[in-house]
Amino acid sequence: MIVCSCNVLSDYEVRAVACTATRRTTTYVYGRLGCRARCGRCAPTIREIMDEVLIGAKVVPVDDTTPAAADE
Ligand code: FES
Repeated sequence: MIVCSCNVLSDYEVRAVACTATRRTTTYVYGRLGCRARCGRCAPTIREIMDEVLIGAKVVPVDDTTPAAADE
């Protein structure tokens, strides 16, 4: 699906950049995809995709009280 009609960016492209993003900014995403913001209407959608990716990659702390498989 195209999320930025000015630069013809797809959600797939934005998600791919977000997966390796070192900064959570739309400017970073545009830059990595070789363009820049024009009208800016897509910025909320790009931020939403970045949030989805970051939440999906969230590291869950290990619970030390859980018995290891070898202990069972
Ligand atoms: S829709 Fe992305 S800059 Fe216009």
